[in-house]
Amino acid sequence: MKIFIDTANIDEIKEVASWGILDGVTTNPTLIAREKRNFADLVKEIHTIVDGPISAEVISLEASGMVEEARKLSKIGRNIAIKIPLTEEGLKATKVLSQERIMTNMTLCFSPAQALLAAKAGATFISPFIGRLDDISHEGLELVRAIKQIYANYAYKTQIIVASIRHPLHVVEAAKIGADIATVPFNVLKKLMKHPLTDIGIDRFLQDWQKLSDKEKAF
Ligand code: G3P
Repeated sequence: MKIFIDTANIDEIKEVASWGILDGVTTNPTLIAREKRNFADLVKEIHTIVDGPISAEVISLEASGMVEEARKLSKIGRNIAIKIPLTEEGLKATKVLSQERIMTNMTLCFSPAQALLAAKAGATFISPFIGRLDDISHEGLELVRAIKQIYANYAYKTQIIVASIRHPLHVVEAAKIGADIATVPFNVLKKLMKHPLTDIGIDRFLQDWQKLSDKEKAF
């Protein structure tokens, strides 16, 4: 499974890129607003750090405006994926952009029906928001399972980005289902690495190592 980071924060992106596990970035207007910087400049800077897909979202609600914004954003680089909400206008825009070979990420997906239409419109990615479904007592991961099955039934090429991830188990379950990608907030990525037995094990190894003489430690 590919791992994207769900942030627009440059320090977080650089940090995770340095771990050697980063396959892409997703942003949204909320994440951009946190950075208090010019949108295009921020996306351009992310583009200098990451080779993989970088999602940047359109603001227009009409297809023509979405396509116009998408064409401008796509000039930043071929790896910019245009994030488009799952509306009728969004479908129209996705169809046009797919014909222009501009990558699209249909976002705010809360039902298998929406995901089916996104694939038919030629979306490169679909983003089911599992945490927001869990928040209203629906099983977010069930949505991912349903999309996976539908896409497999018809060999749709649209890749599933599991989004709105809240904790490490969301990532592990997404991988067990076979999602193509999980887009993970920085704090959850850090938790993914953590295990108390690893820390205890390192402490014990270092304590035992100190019992050796300098001659015994030499290598
Ligand atoms: O980037 C989209 C998505 O991951 C948002 O997550 O936590 O705002 O539901 P959240």
